[in-house]
Amino acid sequence: MSESLKAPLERRDEPLRLVVLGSTGSIGCSTVDLISRHLDAFEVVALVANRNVDRLAEQARSLGAKRAVVADPTYLAALRETLSGTDIEVAAGEVAVVEAAAMPADMVVAAIVGAAGLAPTLAAVRQGRAIALANKESLVCAGKLVMAEAKRHKATILPVDSEHNALFQVFEADNAGRVEKVILTASGGPFRTWSKAEIAAATPEVALRHPNWQMGARITIDSASMMNKGFELIEAFHLFPLPADRIDVLVHPQSTVHGLVQYCDGSLLAQLGAPDMRTPIAHCLAWPNRIQVLAARLDLANMGTLTFEKPDVDRFPALGLARAALAKGKGAPVLLNAADEIAVAAFLSQRIGFTDIVSISEQTIEAADRSGDLIEPDTLEVTLALDAVGRRLSRQAIENLATGTRAAAGGSR
Ligand SMILES: NC(=O)c1ccc[n+]([C@@H]2O[C@H](COP(=O)([O-])OP(=O)(O)OC[C@H]3O[C@@H](n4cnc5c(N)ncnc54)[C@H](OP(=O)(O)O)[C@@H]3O)[C@@H](O)[C@H]2O)c1
Repeated sequence: MSESLKAPLERRDEPLRLVVLGSTGSIGCSTVDLISRHLDAFEVVALVANRNVDRLAEQARSLGAKRAVVADPTYLAALRETLSGTDIEVAAGEVAVVEAAAMPADMVVAAIVGAAGLAPTLAAVRQGRAIALANKESLVCAGKLVMAEAKRHKATILPVDSEHNALFQVFEADNAGRVEKVILTASGGPFRTWSKAEIAAATPEVALRHPNWQMGARITIDSASMMNKGFELIEAFHLFPLPADRIDVLVHPQSTVHGLVQYCDGSLLAQLGAPDMRTPIAHCLAWPNRIQVLAARLDLANMGTLTFEKPDVDRFPALGLARAALAKGKGAPVLLNAADEIAVAAFLSQRIGFTDIVSISEQTIEAADRSGDLIEPDTLEVTLALDAVGRRLSRQAIENLATGTRAAAGGSR
């Protein structure tokens, strides 16, 4: 385990001062739910959202936050109006988001979706905060940079992602050299048993119907394609001191065992829990202690059977693509994330098909490689520039696809 994961979080008698980035999203709302049940233990310094002013204002009022921030500046007036009569400060824009992330606090919950989460997460890391990290894109895009900065500034990275949180709970730092491999489990998503042809015809409506987890739209689609598991593989590579070929993925449809660590003596240690993100979030908020969570408890006797199977990389090529991007390095994972963000949005607005998400992502990396745009993302600026290249190339690939489709439709008339 990296140095930054080993450092125990200093706990004091006073409440833990928290910033929640992405408080209005799925992880953000689960975090707010936990805070509201332990009001004595936490003090909310700032809450950040993109545009959901009503929910943000309601959270800020109920938790007594000092500051509420929207990333989209066109929503500032609405936020100000909604919070008038309170002494909650309001702010808007990307700079304000980064400033909120760096406010004096003990912990920052990084739960913005996408590459937009990188700059504020890095700002919090550079203040030496404890980071409850849900925004896996920070590590996918700039894992080396984020972990190096965490070490330099003595920031503690606590993984919220259920699989990485599971590994964190059972990974014995003192026996890191005796770990043979770690295993991330995957539910397999809604298309686990579907044929390639059925998957190709999948609609946004069915792809958004995850069998076990309630999550934001982007991660739900990424779970259906297994791109999410590919991102998690890259995330695990940066969090745990193991080469990529010792990070395995196992499909486990019940989403009960979240992660496993195999040691040299043959022991396989696992963490189990109901599929409720409040458990791993609470683990991070309270670490190295524990707090009460009213999530469902597992009833193993009632469940009876837990099953595991190998992922089918033929029907779910995203996993192989993510492994290849990690092996290629030089910013290929940044391109993969940018292209996936653009392609998932295009799929949700029905401009491309489900399987196009992965092919657009692959084409984007190939195009960047051909044009010599791939470069090590060793600063925030380089990472953001690569992200912009990925967005431009993937939009182009989507346009080419649409033009090709229109031409084919025209030709057949
Ligand atoms: N959901 C899960 O169970 C889960 C599990 C593991 C990991 N994660 C990771 O956690 C992160 C959040 O996922 P989620 O499912 O909670 O997403 P979500 O429900 O879509 O919520 C995203 C949050 O980010 C905010 N946001 C979006 N763009 C922003 C921007 N440019 N600047 C500032 N804030 C912005 C949104 O604000 P608005 O509401 O105003 O749009 C919202 O608060 C992702 O990285 C995901 O991979 C999620």
